[in-house]
Amino acid sequence: MTRTRLSQYWHPVAVAAEVGDGPVRASLLGGHVALFRSGGELRAFNDVCLHRGAALSLGTVRDGRIVCPYHGWEYDASGACVRIPALPPDRPIPTRARAVTYHVAEAYGLVWVALEDPVAPIPGMPGDVHLDPAYNGEVFSVLDWATSAGRSTENSMDVSHFPFVHANLLGDPEHPEQEPYALHEREWGLEFRVEDQFWRSSDGSFETRIDYDYVQWFPFTMHLRFADGDRITVVTVIASPTEARRTRVFRVVHRNHPADRDQFVREYLHILEQDRIVVESVRPEEIPADLRAELHIKVPDLASIAYRRWLATVDTMGLAEV
Ligand code: FES
Ligand SMILES: [Fe+2]
Repeated sequence: MTRTRLSQYWHPVAVAAEVGDGPVRASLLGGHVALFRSGGELRAFNDVCLHRGAALSLGTVRDGRIVCPYHGWEYDASGACVRIPALPPDRPIPTRARAVTYHVAEAYGLVWVALEDPVAPIPGMPGDVHLDPAYNGEVFSVLDWATSAGRSTENSMDVSHFPFVHANLLGDPEHPEQEPYALHEREWGLEFRVEDQFWRSSDGSFETRIDYDYVQWFPFTMHLRFADGDRITVVTVIASPTEARRTRVFRVVHRNHPADRDQFVREYLHILEQDRIVVESVRPEEIPADLRAELHIKVPDLASIAYRRWLATVDTMGLAEV
């Protein structure tokens, strides 16, 4: 079987609102991407000028063209170099003078890039809540974690750490046992539901039991949907592999009950900090390619075992040559 590469999938690299007309540098799979808008349309180029390798993201955008900061070469929206200021006007521009361009698209408030022709679409959103006017959607957190995107994603699908890492918030330390749950393996990811979980607000003012619906899209998108009565929340966590052992984790939330937004974000960020400390301690930082390299417990690790089986079909250990 041919293994796919991470460069053949879409990954978020920036918050869309932060990419204006001027160039912005983003990082993906060990390289850098220059993002800019040409006539309002997003563009993503390898952040390396063809001439002497300067970062295009340090340049400017003029008339929809990105201008290199070093010797002023200008690349149009298609990546073709259309002006070399030092060249006498009667000399042709070499046809090889063409920036390396990537696939780029906007979804859920994020800019997504695929370095090669993608083998899968940008992950879907449960219930298409991003299109539903009853929901407010926002990117509420962008955090850099010193771990791989795989370890980060696995943390997002793991419930059995709640009573320990999030004791008395998401888990009851007196009741750490996990009930069996059904896992549905799809072509594009995994779906599972974990029922009747402990949940308490950090000030102790609120305590309830809650069901979580998890929807995982390969390679690194994790949706978590939960409801408190008719108050529905969908949290989307996407781990973007900036480097083999560095991950920028984007979090998007859609809620049909916007009133207590600030408290939601505050509590969530507190929980994430608890996760970060433990997940950054995990060695090796990359998930071992061999399933036998770590121990698995059948019920609580069901999703992670299936996820690792899928990861084994992708070249995640080495990053793409970009
Ligand atoms: S390095 Fe870009 S124009 Fe010379
Ligand atoms: Fe956690």
